[in-house]
Amino acid sequence: MNPKLRLIAGVLAVVAAALAVNPPDYWKLFGLGVAPIPGSIDLLHTAQVIPVPGALGPESLAFDPTGDGPYTGVADGRVLKWDRNNRRWTDFAVTTSQREECVRPFAPEMEHVCGRPLGLKFDKKNGDLYIADAYLGLQVVGPAGGLASQVVREVEGQPLRFTNDLDIDEHKDVIYFSDSSTIFQRRQFMSSVLNGDRTGRLLKYNKSSKEVTVLLRGLAFANGVALSKDRSFVLVAETTTCRILRIWLDGPNAGNTDVFAELPGFPDNVRRNSNGEFWVALHAKSGFVSKFITSNTWVGKSMLKLPLGFKRLHSLLVGGKAHATAVKLSENGEVLQVLEDCEGKTMKFISELEEKDGELWMGFHKHEAKADVLGSNHRRCGVFSLDFPQRRLGSSNSSNAASAVGPESFVFDALRSLYWSIGWPYRQMGSA
Ligand SMILES: *[C@@H]1O[C@H](CO)[C@@H](O)[C@H](O)[C@H]1NC(C)=O
Ligand SMILES: *[C@@H]1O[C@H](CO)[C@@H](O)[C@H](O)[C@H]1NC(C)=O
Repeated sequence: MNPKLRLIAGVLAVVAAALAVNPPDYWKLFGLGVAPIPGSIDLLHTAQVIPVPGALGPESLAFDPTGDGPYTGVADGRVLKWDRNNRRWTDFAVTTSQREECVRPFAPEMEHVCGRPLGLKFDKKNGDLYIADAYLGLQVVGPAGGLASQVVREVEGQPLRFTNDLDIDEHKDVIYFSDSSTIFQRRQFMSSVLNGDRTGRLLKYNKSSKEVTVLLRGLAFANGVALSKDRSFVLVAETTTCRILRIWLDGPNAGNTDVFAELPGFPDNVRRNSNGEFWVALHAKSGFVSKFITSNTWVGKSMLKLPLGFKRLHSLLVGGKAHATAVKLSENGEVLQVLEDCEGKTMKFISELEEKDGELWMGFHKHEAKADVLGSNHRRCGVFSLDFPQRRLGSSNSSNAASAVGPESFVFDALRSLYWSIGWPYRQMGSA
């Protein structure tokens, strides 16, 4: 862009930011809304909700090697386990013993004390649960749960500041994990994005030598991590640039990195299904405004200097109507499916999708949704704001979306038939 245009566009963006009373309305006014994704299916609003009472932000989901679970990490630092028989959550693990003050469901200022478990993954060989805790590094807890122990706290002599996600190669006894930033912590994630921070890393931990190797550095908000089915490559999501990067581990390209996929939004966690395909949860779709902000870091930096609260900054960045968007990628990075809750009826910010036995389980964030208030045109979402749910795609019955009733088999069959009857179109997304 030429400098004059750049200046004008920048001033406009900043003025819009300063004036923003109800950003979604401006979006509409200026025609800057986030474009719909061609071929996407509006399905996620049919998800059945499993509330997580007294907790917020179930981020990652994992099933243990016996198929029990899911387990999920919540904002107060606990890892919970879903007890399917009694249909309730039980406390499973914590990442610190200093928990006297960890009593509020969401207290960002306490996260460095209470811990914030983001990525979860079981070692299938022995049932150990590995936890990427945003503040406390990589940890592990045995199959009985309890207090997790430290695996990696420091890298290159510096404490980890924002551990985010992981995947395990049980054959090589190696763990791949991401560190979103060496400067910003989880509660400052907006600053990381708006500052154009590029200090994220993909790391490798060798269980036998206990050594950590930096595989990639200079990443713009390293996030979800997933190994390929044949373990020949590992993926890492780069949230700020809306990309998934691939680093080859084996074969003729070993050591090389390329862009695996360019996405229509900001990727969070990435999870492989049993076919070797990848589900990517998009925190939000990206549009003209967010692209402009993230590709011109001076705009983001200017926005941070304005007296705008978190919710306004977040609304400006993600634009439009907050709603869940999930993308399924093939083993080669082509977009196979896009699922949305277009109106944000049931879900707004999803963080992860885990496909298991024909069901899609989703972790769901509420605090950003609460933070951005969303204005009058989102009032109908209020019905769902009472629970702090982890949402499961299953039943097509949206009238009971806020409860978790009904036998498992009903959910299973309903999803299976939905899954196969809709005939998900194959669609290749034009690269950005
Ligand atoms: C892990 O470390 C051991 C011991 O140093 C070494 O023999 C092995 O090759 C390493 N594995 C990987 C995948 O780097
Ligand atoms: C849908 O949910 C409502 C309310 O829970 C219930 O009365 C109704 O029977 C359900 N329908 C189906 C098809 O399960």
